[in-house]
Amino acid sequence: MSDFNLKNYLSFWSKKVDEWIDNYLKPHSKYSVGLTEAMRYSVFAGGKRLRPALIYSAYGIFESYFDKVTPFASAVEILHTYSLIHDDLPAMDDDDLRRGKPTNHKVFGEATAILAGDALLTKAFEIMTDKKINQDIPAEMMLEATHKLAVATGDKGMVAGQYADIKAENSELEIENVTFIHQNKTAALIGYCTELGGILGFANEKEKEILKNFGQKIGLAFQIYDDVLDLTGTTEELGKNAKSDLENCKATYTSFYGVEKSKNIAIDLINDAVAEIEYFKTPARPLVEIAKFIVKRNN
Ligand code: IPE
Ligand code: IPE
Ligand code: MG
Ligand code: MG
Ligand code: MG
Repeated sequence: MSDFNLKNYLSFWSKKVDEWIDNYLKPHSKYSVGLTEAMRYSVFAGGKRLRPALIYSAYGIFESYFDKVTPFASAVEILHTYSLIHDDLPAMDDDDLRRGKPTNHKVFGEATAILAGDALLTKAFEIMTDKKINQDIPAEMMLEATHKLAVATGDKGMVAGQYADIKAENSELEIENVTFIHQNKTAALIGYCTELGGILGFANEKEKEILKNFGQKIGLAFQIYDDVLDLTGTTEELGKNAKSDLENCKATYTSFYGVEKSKNIAIDLINDAVAEIEYFKTPARPLVEIAKFIVKRNN
């Protein structure tokens, strides 16, 4: 794998997920066509599809029957998209650009955007618990995967982080509070993704723990770097409003440490995480490449 090409690798998995979602996400009735349209709008607005790639990569350490993973990887991307729609709402970050396009509420109105988000969140659980879709997934595995997703994204994870993020606007914070925000709003789901690869690949408890820790570390670095990009990137590059954090007086790593030190903290976290994932040797190469990309990307 010395000729590993991350761009091709990401687009390969992204295509699998996009095809699967395109096929699955259809209107329930003629009365809810507009809801499905709003859901599909944000899912297919672009996006790096980093979370699915992490799931496939972690799974690839153990097994190679990747078709089994696609519904789960799609479900996670769908749930992630919900979090972006809600994050952009006027009551939250009040942003009008996402994935290079007008935000969901700008196009469909606030009520539909909230509902599209709600429906994408529940859609993830609908997919993951569907026995027909997941015929190769034992019930125990399905239960573990689903439960851990709920834990990572509710009030013990992402939603707690989003709450603390909003509460922290315009206030002087200790760095531990900012770290809590980042670990919860972003790193919890990314840690879940790498752990999920292990769950689906029948990894043992120790292996799952290593994968989860790796994901949480690169997830924290991911959010720190997102804060950096908010200041250093252009709206065009980012596909979302640059300096949005500044405008909202957000508690960010950059507001605490400045750009250069924040970058270095993110790079150190990535190096640490990469050193730990070497436990799995060569099969962990895709995870290593994705981790390094996190602090090199421009969006
Ligand atoms: C954006 O996530 C939200 C954060 C956690 C910072 P991504 O940067 O992965 O967004 P997409 O999916 O590529 O649009
Ligand atoms: C959002 O963090 C994290 C979630 C959506 C859970 P940000 O508010 O920093 O994300 P962006 O910068 O809008 O993508
Ligand atoms: Mg936010
Ligand atoms: Mg935001
Ligand atoms: Mg941000």
